[in-house]
Parts: sequence; structure tokens; C-alpha cells
Amino acid sequence: MILGVNVDHVATVRQARMTFEPDPVMAATLAILGGADGITVHLREDRRHIQDRDLRLLREFVPVELNLEMAATDEMIRIASEVKPDMVTLVPEKREELTTEGGLNLRDQKEHLKSAVQRIRDLGIPVSLFINPHPADIDLSREIGADMVEIHTGMYANAKGREQETELEKVNEAVALAADQGLGVNAGHGLTYYNVKPIASNRSIRGLYIGHSIISRSVLVGIERAVREMKALIETP
Ligand code: PXP
Repeated sequence: MILGVNVDHVATVRQARMTFEPDPVMAATLAILGGADGITVHLREDRRHIQDRDLRLLREFVPVELNLEMAATDEMIRIASEVKPDMVTLVPEKREELTTEGGLNLRDQKEHLKSAVQRIRDLGIPVSLFINPHPADIDLSREIGADMVEIHTGMYANAKGREQETELEKVNEAVALAADQGLGVNAGHGLTYYNVKPIASNRSIRGLYIGHSIISRSVLVGIERAVREMKALIETP
């Protein structure tokens, strides 16, 4: 199972002072030394954290999987065509949100997403769709032409007790359905050192994409160690 480390928060700290540090490119290099199999960044329309410069430099510095999270807009597709990340994950984007709040609305945006996915795949870049763990969204993802899906684990992460078990079942069912349909299956959002193991024990999952918890721990213990500790958890669930 691969671990993709999202370094957006490093850029958030830098942008808090509009300065040059900390640099997400340096953070990515150290995360890779700690065992990250991939680096993820979300280039948002409002550029509130990751900047175009970061993405260009990451493309040069990152020898592992570079995953570009982005909205399905003409501007972002143009940037993807220039930078050529190893994969694109399409996410919904709202200006007022703190972080990506839910999966894509596949039903209402089916035709738009189908054309965006086709345009990105024509560039030779595999496409993943960030989706809620709903069976109907798996069928729609296949119809839209995605290579992969990333199952939203935020509801699982936020739930407690019995409710968390129910949410875990929904994630596991979605993973099984997606795998049956021949889609690559990833998962992410809200995963922490304390809730990752039940998700990581599902060996049909290709990769976990984790940001907040790893960057938070890295403030205290350093990013190499924070990544190593997460890798150890997901490799021996
Ligand atoms: N996957 C997607 C699609 C996301 O938008 C995010 C947040 O940027 C993550 C995973 C990582 O979530 P977290 O920061 O909660 O680990």
C-alpha cells in the first residue's frame, strides 16, 4: 500500500507570512527520505497555499508519484498539461471551505467530468476521482472514464463508536465495488495515526493520501520521522 503525503499545510504556514519559509519542496524531499511513496499538492483556484512555482519545482524534485489535486477547470487542465504530474485527482472546490468537504457530485457533473477526464487522459495522465463511499458513485466513476477513485474517509474519521464501524463498512463496501469494476482504489481525508489502521488493513486499497495529521506531527518530531511512523502503521496493520 502506498503512502502519498500531502504537503499543502507547509505552504499554508509559509503563506501566513507571505514569505519563503517553510518551503513545501524541501518538505517533500524530506518526506520522501522518510519513505513517502508519493507527494500530493492541491493547487487551488485562490492559491491560498500551494503556488504555481511550488508545483513546477516539485515536478523537478519529486522522483516518486506526484499527485496533483485540482478542480476540473480549463485553467487547471492547462497547468496539468504543462507540468505533467504522474496523476491527477479531481476534487470539488469551494472558495469558502477550510478543506475539501465532500466527494465530487458525479451525478450532476457527469458530462463535465467525463470531458475533463478525457482531456487529462489524452495528455497521458491517469485520473482519479475523489468520491463519497456510495455505491452509485462507483458506477458513475467508471462511466465517467476514471482510472482510479479516492474514497472519502472523512465521514469515517469524524464518526465515533458504533457509527464509526458503520462508516468503515461503507468505505470497505465502496472499495470492494470499485475494485470489482477494475478501478484503482485509493482512500483519504481525515486519516490520523489513531484511526488509520482499520482502513490500512483493507489490502484492496492501492494507496492512502494523508496530509494534516502527518504535517501536524512533523511540527513536533520532524517530517522524516512523522512519515516513517505513518508508513510503519500502514504497512503492519
Ligand atoms: N485526499 C483529498 C482528495 C484531499 O482533498 C485531502 C485534503 O487536501 C486529503 C486527501 C488529505 O486529507 P487530510 O489532510 O485530512 O489528511
